[in-house]
Amino acid sequence: MSLAFWAVREEPLILSDYIQLIYASRPFGFDDAMLNGILMEARRNNPRDDITGALICRHDLYLQLLEGPKDAVEAAFERIARDKRHLEVRQCFTSPMTERLFPDWAMRDDPVQSWMWTPQEVAAGAIEKASHLELLRVFTRLAAETA
Ligand SMILES: Cc1cc2nc3c(=O)[nH]c(=O)nc-3n(C[C@H](O)[C@H](O)[C@H](O)COP(=O)(O)O)c2cc1C
Repeated sequence: MSLAFWAVREEPLILSDYIQLIYASRPFGFDDAMLNGILMEARRNNPRDDITGALICRHDLYLQLLEGPKDAVEAAFERIARDKRHLEVRQCFTSPMTERLFPDWAMRDDPVQSWMWTPQEVAAGAIEKASHLELLRVFTRLAAETA
């Protein structure tokens, strides 16, 4: 096998029109009924749009990763950003996608885990202070855990 073949093979595979987007927001009136409604909409729309991902949720925080075709992810994020069920929506991270983290999930829901942040840390701006890599690692770790 030629050297050139290996050089090409070792390049990470970039699906150029596919992206991962992470945003954070603060729930407005968080309860089970509201969360179920959001998840129902996500699980109805996302398969249609070829979007997968995960939503980390607690009374003080939504942190969502959306992955899929760039146009579809951006359109979903525009709809989500206008949604009155949360406040202070801020996009943290967007990058070309090499591989889906949640290929089998139209939208996985996860509580904020003890290894993430305390409410005090969130209130003190932990999400804003986190690097892109740290945010992505949160979802990588979640994806490695069984739901
Ligand atoms: C925290 C949060 C996460 C959401 N996630 C998604 C999602 O992943 N996909 C989606 O289509 N809508 C999601 N929504 C709902 C959208 O804001 C919007 O209500 C919905 O896409 C409208 O769908 P419809 O036009 O089919 O009624 C989310 C809303 C919130 C507040």
